[in-house]
Amino acid sequence: MSTHNVWTHKGTFLLAAVGSAVGLGNLWRFPYLAGENGGGAFILVYALTIFAVGIPILIAEILLGRNSRRSPIMGMRFLTRTHSASRRWEVIGWLGGISAFLILSFYSVIAGWAIHYTWKMLTGSLTGASAETISAGFDALLASPARLTLYHTLFIIASGLIVGLGVHQGIERGLRVIMPALFVILLVVLAYGVANGDFPAAADFLLTFNIADLSLEGWLEAMGQSFFTLSLGMGAIMAYGAYMSGEVSLTRTAIAIAVVDTAVAIVAGLAIFSLVFGAGLDAAQGPGLMFVTLPLAFAEMPAGGLIGGIFFILVLGAAISSSISLIEPVAAYLVERFDLTRPQAVFAMAMATWALGLLTVISFNLWSEESVFHGLFGRSAFDLFELLTNIFMPLGGMLIALFAGWALTPSEVVKEMGTNGGWFTTWRFLVRFIAPAAVAFVFLRAIPQVGGYLLPAIGAVVIVGAFAAHRTLLTEAGQTH
Ligand code: TRP
Repeated sequence: MSTHNVWTHKGTFLLAAVGSAVGLGNLWRFPYLAGENGGGAFILVYALTIFAVGIPILIAEILLGRNSRRSPIMGMRFLTRTHSASRRWEVIGWLGGISAFLILSFYSVIAGWAIHYTWKMLTGSLTGASAETISAGFDALLASPARLTLYHTLFIIASGLIVGLGVHQGIERGLRVIMPALFVILLVVLAYGVANGDFPAAADFLLTFNIADLSLEGWLEAMGQSFFTLSLGMGAIMAYGAYMSGEVSLTRTAIAIAVVDTAVAIVAGLAIFSLVFGAGLDAAQGPGLMFVTLPLAFAEMPAGGLIGGIFFILVLGAAISSSISLIEPVAAYLVERFDLTRPQAVFAMAMATWALGLLTVISFNLWSEESVFHGLFGRSAFDLFELLTNIFMPLGGMLIALFAGWALTPSEVVKEMGTNGGWFTTWRFLVRFIAPAAVAFVFLRAIPQVGGYLLPAIGAVVIVGAFAAHRTLLTEAGQTH
């Protein structure tokens, strides 16, 4: 059964995709990664990846969704059949489904921290607090499985309710309220940062490029982050694309998503670092930047409790508009495949993710030092899930690029893109060669035994070359049905 949902307006896909893209990745992860990796240098690599790799894959992913008009798993099955491609490509759908569970399970726990801080800020209990008090408060929150579970549960329920109400009554209606509010709050916080903090220092830190500041890890993180922040490579965009009107321009929409998403990350970074530097604090605080350093800055500033509270509401809204797009692809699959009702499907997805999220909860306390995960993988469950998503998302993105580049027929792509001009040629070149090679390069580079830049570069060329040479294996000859 194919999906019959279609967004109410032509612009709704853009709204939904921006809602998916803008999230904890922009407000929490981007600023702390930039802070740890030399500010402007990190942003440069990040922006380059977004444009050379992110946008082409974004176009490919929307295209697969819109062309199949099904949830990612069923959609890939449909596309392999209709293009007599190997059924092995279906792994794109499955990888996406698994990633959705993994991401949502820890995303929800972290979003839960924002519930805690919204409350703390608005009740004024952090006003004037010392650095010790605030960091002890954060430690105490992480040390409490009960509190983390409570917030995680509340967040999953809220997201589940929105998706459970349906594509129109839930997702669309929710986004129409949340998204405009987010942009207003972001500007309020920026204005507050400019008025009370050190904006020039923030601008200097984020916008001055000194490529020497960037470590190899910084490079890898920048690429992982560009996939994460665009919600790429795991079917969320494909699922939303399945509901997109055929008349809307793919290229323009994809560029708009990337531009808005990057702008939000940079504005959030400017606002956050204005406050952090204004309070004389340090940028390289890691994941605690938003939950320890920033509250401390708010604690020292006029009306900090109120603006801080509003800021954490922004974080929550952005997180919810992203989490609903993590539930949608799996829920849509369950509806299509097993004929469940939407509420049943959402309930199943949310319950399973909730349970998985408990492993992240205890990664911060009961199982923070020692667990089966440390025994087997040398890291906590949370770190493992994060690592897996950092692998699965680029991998999924690479496969999506290859499938769209090599397995889809040009005429069909031209029809979807509405052009066979320069855009099409550029895009095709990027998804066939550049995007997969970039991902392969970064993967190879991440293997400790593979040193230098030459070896990974050769490896990447060999991989993509082998692919191009053997593509018949993956299409006609590789048919398994
Ligand atoms: N893009 C989201 C953010 O920046 C996080 C995210 C990653 C995501 N993958 C996703 C959201 C898939 C929805 C769907 O916070």
